[in-house]
Amino acid sequence: MTSGFAGAAGRFGVAYDRRAAAYAAAIEPTFRPVHRRIVELAQIGPGMRVVDLATGTGGVAREVAAAGARVTGIDVSSGMLEIARASSPVGIAYVLAEASALPFPDHSFDVATCGFGLSHMPHARRVLSEVRRVLKPKGTFLASCWGPERSNPSRDAVQATLERYLPGWTDPFGQIMNEELWADPASGLRNLRDAGFDPVEVVTERLSGAFADPAQALGRAIAGPTRGAMADAIPDTERGRFQAEAVAAIEATADLGWWELVNYYRAMALP
Ligand SMILES: C[S@@+](CC[C@H](N)C(=O)[O-])C[C@H]1O[C@@H](n2cnc3c(N)ncnc32)[C@H](O)[C@@H]1O
Repeated sequence: MTSGFAGAAGRFGVAYDRRAAAYAAAIEPTFRPVHRRIVELAQIGPGMRVVDLATGTGGVAREVAAAGARVTGIDVSSGMLEIARASSPVGIAYVLAEASALPFPDHSFDVATCGFGLSHMPHARRVLSEVRRVLKPKGTFLASCWGPERSNPSRDAVQATLERYLPGWTDPFGQIMNEELWADPASGLRNLRDAGFDPVEVVTERLSGAFADPAQALGRAIAGPTRGAMADAIPDTERGRFQAEAVAAIEATADLGWWELVNYYRAMALP
């Protein structure tokens, strides 16, 4: 399906192509409050021009459009973009592109948004300078990133079950994820400042939910690329047994709740 981007972007493109349907069904709905909050914090309104980086299945882009702005979403996964197009109003444009090489002229947008994408970009510095280039002077960059704390007993139970099936497994994305940089507000703010944004600020808020049942919790736990790659590595002959054991492990926690801290970074592009 995808893309042929080099490096980390290419690897994430392939991984998200593979999991696009699972992402749309199991993950995106749990992010909806974050997508709305991005629009609020960026103060997006009618007539603005917005680019949504790492748009995925289009959750942020649809909220931006609902606020009356004109929005273009970009992503390296054609599989994610196919779902975004199929589930969005026709006015939203979706473009297969890499965040560090945006196919737009200088000063094209009032706002750039990015929902949980920066952690996938080990070349964050190049991405930020590209964001600055396409933003109008004093334009706003608003990005949500995972914060420093979380609790999700059912996901931990699935992870432990996966590790029993795949001892010695090495996370194929471990080297190219950049989560810590943005989980720590001080280092995230420093990076934005160093990239030519000022003022910069961060708001940390709690996102929480509860799964309807263990099957839903299992589906959510393996819908992303990291545990998804592990689940895919389990041989077909063992898959049924794995699923039954994962569900039993989730039931044993007697806790279908979860919460995560989310850092919302807001930064103004220096002229
Ligand atoms: C966790 S998903 C977030 C999707 C969406 N923003 C949301 O909040 O639901 C991360 C997305 O980043 C995309 N991605 C990863 N690296 C990228 C890059 N260098 N440029 C553009 N998109 C990228 C992936 O393909 C994936 O769709």
